[in-house]
Formats: sequence, C-alpha cells, structure tokens
Amino acid sequence: FFSIAYFNYKHPIFKWNWETIPTSEMHFPKTFLWGTATAAHQVEGGHTNSNWSWWENQKKKSGQPTIANQEKAGIATNHWQLYPKDITLMQELGVNSYRFSLSWSKINPKEGHFDQASIEHYSNVIDSLLAKNIVPNITLHHFEEPLWFMQKGGFEKMENLRYFELFVKKMIQSYGNRVQLWTTFNEINVYTSLAYMSDIFPPGKDNTLLAGQVLRNILIAHTRVYQMIKKLPEGKNAKIGIVKDIFFFEPKNRWNVLDWLGAEIADSNFNSSSLAFFETGKYQFYVPFEANLQYEDKNAPNTLDFIGLNYYSHYATEFKLFEHEKMFSAVKDETMTDMDYTVYPEGIYRAIKRISKLQKPILITETGIADNKDDRRPQFIERELFAVSKAIQDGYDVRGYYYWSLIDNFEWSLGYSKKFGLYSVDQKTQIRTLKNGGKTYQKIVKKFAQPQ
Ligand code: NOJ
Repeated sequence: FFSIAYFNYKHPIFKWNWETIPTSEMHFPKTFLWGTATAAHQVEGGHTNSNWSWWENQKKKSGQPTIANQEKAGIATNHWQLYPKDITLMQELGVNSYRFSLSWSKINPKEGHFDQASIEHYSNVIDSLLAKNIVPNITLHHFEEPLWFMQKGGFEKMENLRYFELFVKKMIQSYGNRVQLWTTFNEINVYTSLAYMSDIFPPGKDNTLLAGQVLRNILIAHTRVYQMIKKLPEGKNAKIGIVKDIFFFEPKNRWNVLDWLGAEIADSNFNSSSLAFFETGKYQFYVPFEANLQYEDKNAPNTLDFIGLNYYSHYATEFKLFEHEKMFSAVKDETMTDMDYTVYPEGIYRAIKRISKLQKPILITETGIADNKDDRRPQFIERELFAVSKAIQDGYDVRGYYYWSLIDNFEWSLGYSKKFGLYSVDQKTQIRTLKNGGKTYQKIVKKFAQPQ
C-alpha cells in the first residue's frame, strides 16, 4: 500500500566525492537532445486577451493580489521581438533543441478567428531555429488560454474540448511540415491543482472534485488530439507527448502513519492518477468522503510517442483533511531553493524510474532551479546531469534534457522575483547576461551536443 519512496530518496547511490563533477563521469548518446525551455506567457510580453492577463487584474477572495507584489507580466522579456537575439544565446550555449509554447490567446483571440500575423510570427521563429540546426519542440498548452475559452468554462466542460481540437488542427496544418516534436499539455497536474484545487492560477476555483474532473477532461483532450493529428497529412511525422510533472511527497514524520497516508493520497492524486491513465487506460481520482472519480480508455497508452517529464523537487507531507495547501513543507536538513522546496537534483533518477513504467521514450522537458544568487545552480546542474547520465547507463530510455529556463522570466503567481534562467535579464534594458550556472550547462552541452 505505501510507496517505498521514503527509503528510496535516502538511497546511498548518490554519495558525492566531488566538489564539482567532471564531465568525464558523464555519458550521453550522440542523438541526445540538449535544450532549454520557455513558455509564451512567461517570456513574450504583450498578452492582453488571456486567462492570465485577466487574472493579474483580479483579487483573491482573501483580498490578496493574485500575483506577488501586484506585478503584471507586461512586456516580460520581450521575447516576441527579441527571439532572434535569444536564438543566438542558444547557439552560444551550444544546445540543439528549444522547447517553447504557442500562445493560444494570441493566435485564436476570438472564438472561430485565427490571427494570421501571430501564425506567421511562430512560423518565423521555427524557420530561424531550423536555420541554426536547433530542433523545435512545441507545447500547445502551457497554462495560458484565451479568455473567451476560460469564460466558457474551459476544460471544465467536455463540450469545450472541440475548441482546443480546432486550435491544434490549425497549428499542425501551419507547422507540421517543419516541426516533429509536439506536446499537448504542460504539467497536467500543476495546472489542475493550482487552477482548480486552489486559487493560485486562474480561474482559481478551489474545488478538489472539479480539479479531478478537469484533469480527466484534459487527458481525454490529449487522446483526441493525438488521434486527430495522426490523421492529418501534415501530422504524419509528428511525435506527440504530454508533459507530466513528477514531484515527490515524503511523509514528514516517518513514524506517523497519518503522514504516510497524506503522502500517499498526495502522490496518488498528483502522480498516479495521470500516470496510471497512460499505463493502463484507467483514471482514478479520490476525494476523501466526497467522490472517487473513475474513467477508462483502453487505448490511452497508445496515445503517446514519448513522455515529457518535468522534475523539480520533493515536499515533506502531513495529513490534513481540509487544508490541503498546508499539507506540504520543505524537506528538513536540505538546502533551500528560492521556492518553498529544497535542492534535490538526484531525485530526477527516481522520477525517471517512475515514469519509465509507461514504457515510452522519455524527454526531460523541464527541470531547473530558482536561485537568485546563482550560487546553487552550477552544482545543481552537474549533480542532476550526473544522475540522468547514470539513469541512461542503467538502461532508462532518456532522449533529451531541457533546462528551465533559457532566461529569467515571469514565474506566474510569483511574478519576476523567482529567477530560473541560465541568463539574467535586465528588466529596463532587456540585456541578457550569462550566469555561472549557464556556464556550467554550456561546458557540459559543448562536450556532448551534436547536430540532430
Ligand atoms: C514548470 C512550469 O512549466 C514553468 O512554467 C515554470 O516556470 C517552472 N515550472 C518553474 O516553476
């Protein structure tokens, strides 16, 4: 019944003798994708018609602002205009792939209307990447959606799935001849938890049962668009995945059986619910004393050409029947990141092992560290890549690694204060500067990355 997670993370496999890990200790295949990742709303600027541009002007029921310090995304890092410059940064790093998202709200600002200028914009981005031998990896839904779609009830309603299908169809018809790698949804469990189980993301509904329903609907939307893309002439070469976020939940007090129960429920709803769907076709979401949602689609495991893995860290977990948000805290005796969780790069080995149960090629679509001082990032990257290299040597089918993020950017409800970038960005001048962590990544990438 209980996972053996707790014992796993204390495993002595990752005992470090090195202050810094030499690249001679790492091994990666020639075909490995080395990349960095961003998302439209966080870097582009100029979003005026989306769930997030609406959200930044709201107040929470508690009276608190929806974005820390009442910040607005605004012009962000102006990646919309500066993308040619940002592609030169990718070249400077030596990466051979770039993961980014399309802004659904810019492309499809009104129901039934597609904006040609925005479609051309991404077409230019794709051409510029290809001209530099950088493989585009496109996310279709990265937390951002048109306001009209959210106002119709978004993914809460099954009848709305068709709007997403129409958008995806248009995108594949526009870019499918040039782009192979597609992910449908980013971080399915973060999206549903923060937008529907709490009021951290729009629409901030704070209803656990609804979160379980939205998750189910998103999984269904994925299977539908997968099948639709495969039938399109422009989609016949597409490799389609979804991004699953694995976060680990350790019992806060290992001698308290309720903490084990809390960790188990969190893990079951956050991780197992969507993993099981792609492993067996069965979806189950349990809300204590309220409901046990169930759904089955035996074909679901056949709707992934690869699985995207986003990995960040783990939480200590206590059992709380009603105040879910108070269940989680930082694991004791570990160095903190600038987020509310600790530095735990070797956990990526566990995440790879867990997701490998799906028996699909794995792309690490995101991983990174918020580290304003940039004093933990270099070691984080080395330790994590050593763990990834070890997983590959142990037989796990990991095909690529995208560091989050290329540049510091808008961290959703936390605004600009959290800095994940390999490059810092001066908000006034928009000047980008390579950090020490960026140099560490660059050193490793330059040793291993090959043109694809
Ligand atoms: C995952 C999300 O996909 C991304 O948008 C976010 O900025 C990073 N995690 C860091 O929290």
